[in-house]
Amino acid sequence: MMDLQKKLEQKNIKQFQEDLISWYEQEKRDLPWRSDSDPYKVWVSEVMLQQTRVDTVIPYFNNFIEKFPTVEALAEADEEKVLKAWEGLGYYSRVRNLQSAVREVHERYGGVVPPSKEEFGSLKGVGPYTRGAVLSIAYNQPVPAVDGNVMRVMSRILSVWDDIAKPKTKTLFEKIVEAFISEEKPSEFNQGLMELGAVICTPKSPSCLLCPVREHCSAFAEGCEKELPVKSKKKKPSVKTLAAVVLTDEEGYIYIHKRPASGLLANLWEFPNTETQKGLKYEREQLAAFLKEEAGIEAEIGPLEGVVEHVFTHLVWNISVFFGKTLDQPDDSYFKKVTKEELAEYAFPVSHQKIWNMYMK
Ligand code: ADE
Repeated sequence: MMDLQKKLEQKNIKQFQEDLISWYEQEKRDLPWRSDSDPYKVWVSEVMLQQTRVDTVIPYFNNFIEKFPTVEALAEADEEKVLKAWEGLGYYSRVRNLQSAVREVHERYGGVVPPSKEEFGSLKGVGPYTRGAVLSIAYNQPVPAVDGNVMRVMSRILSVWDDIAKPKTKTLFEKIVEAFISEEKPSEFNQGLMELGAVICTPKSPSCLLCPVREHCSAFAEGCEKELPVKSKKKKPSVKTLAAVVLTDEEGYIYIHKRPASGLLANLWEFPNTETQKGLKYEREQLAAFLKEEAGIEAEIGPLEGVVEHVFTHLVWNISVFFGKTLDQPDDSYFKKVTKEELAEYAFPVSHQKIWNMYMK
């Protein structure tokens, strides 16, 4: 394969920048985080957009900014309320890191998001992508912001066949974008690449005939745009079976539990649940034994109400759902007792929201 330097020399980079940027300026979607370039708002939007689609992010972004409009507001906010505003977006460590980093900005930098690569890039949760996105969009600095979309676009432009699932390929694309990025308009350049990846240069059937940089595209010229980028398959996620119970007492309180401060879905709330042996037999017995051992609760557990499945990146949860009543007055150190109204204030994973909806039906 031709080496990268040669490929770069064959490109008219100035013309590429011009074609991309003028297309972006004319065609860009009107998105709420594009209405001003407040670095804090840009930062929030980029963290939300990292694993989540634009359409999903829009209402979350508007609500989050309404509740926490400034660095100061987020720095001083109650963690429970911040988690609640993120409920359903997934990848919750993103928001815990964001709040830690924002607190540092509040305390160390007087509430001003630092415009330096070193300072901003060393904040919690700020990796090369977030750093490049915020510094280019909010501060107009020519720093690459390479995510999956940008790798797809640039792998086609240059016909790069390296596996984008490998970390070192991302470094390669950062070098590539460094060579391509506009010094005059880095914000429009980076957002133009993102926009192109989102609306034209899509994974399965790119709209090459509408593409503003088609003439610069090696994959289009070679007819191989659908074969790029090369991405090796992840291994199949493992399946975990669980049993969960919406447990109430005679006064109508509901028992909920806070997940540990680290790991999957850290600090979110859930209904009592335990991992079970695969297969439907003895699930209720396993659940009853779990309640007894963890919290000293004797409970009467009803029939199976349904099954909730939730797919994470590397894991599938298969949760059998039961409703139950406590038979005694347990010590509630393991669980928290809440009313229906109070329950709405706590952040639950989507799978447990589904369990709650089954109960409320
Ligand atoms: N994806 C990641 N960042 C984005 C942005 N700023 N606008 C649209 N899509 C994006």
